[in-house]
Amino acid sequence: MTVMPADLSGIDVRAEIERLRKERNAVILAHYYQRPELQDLADFVGDSLELSRKAAETDAEVIAFCGVKFMADTAKILSPNKIVVLPDINAGCSLEDSCPPEKFKAFREAHPDHIALTYINCSTEVKALSDIIVTSSSAETILQQIPLDQKIIFGPDRHLGGYLSRKFNREMLLWPGVCIVHEAFSETELLKLRAQHPNAPIAAHPECPPHIVDHADYVGSTSGILQYARTISQDTLIVATEPHIIHQMQLSIPDKTFIGAPGADGNCNCNICPYMALNTLEKLYIALRDLTPRVEIEEPLRLAAKKSLDRMLEMASGTVGKGDLGTR
Ligand code: 13P
Ligand code: SF4
Repeated sequence: MTVMPADLSGIDVRAEIERLRKERNAVILAHYYQRPELQDLADFVGDSLELSRKAAETDAEVIAFCGVKFMADTAKILSPNKIVVLPDINAGCSLEDSCPPEKFKAFREAHPDHIALTYINCSTEVKALSDIIVTSSSAETILQQIPLDQKIIFGPDRHLGGYLSRKFNREMLLWPGVCIVHEAFSETELLKLRAQHPNAPIAAHPECPPHIVDHADYVGSTSGILQYARTISQDTLIVATEPHIIHQMQLSIPDKTFIGAPGADGNCNCNICPYMALNTLEKLYIALRDLTPRVEIEEPLRLAAKKSLDRMLEMASGTVGKGDLGTR
């Protein structure tokens, strides 16, 4: 679907967002990978687990979700009586695209003795076919609660699955999906950067491939990386995840320097998530004004998907928003 640009000349978009947010009793949730101007006006900025919790708890009538579709879908699954709008309905995810529900269903049927531990970056249909959902901040806590003799399918991110598998010495059948953003970091360029900043630690998201994660001093979710940035004694940090998170780091730790890990061309533009970037201030204004694009999910599908999400929320209840996979 192509979203046509609207003529907003003469409209004070920020003032209108403020007016509509109150008029609609709306909460604006934003992921750390959103443009700075969206992060700045959000009521809450967080990682996937924190945003799911906020969506489940809010009293607002409208959730304006500045993130990608699977996140807005999660908000609707957990808060079915709220209106959930996503500024650009085309804000998808390469991991979700890599895992068509019918293929995932066939994969599950071929391994009936395995449970499906599934990364939240997937469609509602795949959630409905799964036993337990995880986010990068809850994956470790949840995996450790699963008996050692239980066989596991992990999808759709083979890098997060591979990281967990190596760290816990636990075999899992991995779905072959990847995040196009984290896949784009270059080991050669990362090592060149580290040679220029020999004292700077490297923090990496576990969606990165092993040749990046293996150089990291810290591996964790977006909120985990942010927390790590607050605790290090060094004044510079190399950040191997989507670079918009650096905005939050600069806001909360202004005296430190954060350098985005490079892609193969030596600059990090190829690591900007093209899906997250689809949301803009103007589209958020239109979403609040028209209450569209709206996320809708058929009730039987929602209920089926909610089971695996509820398991995540129960099993991750001890994970306090610090998003920790921990150091390697
Ligand atoms: P977290 O914010 O949960 O670490 O996930 C990152 C991500 O993949 C968002 O697309
Ligand atoms: Fe999906 Fe990767 Fe973008 Fe996250 S950063 S939304 S995993 S494509």
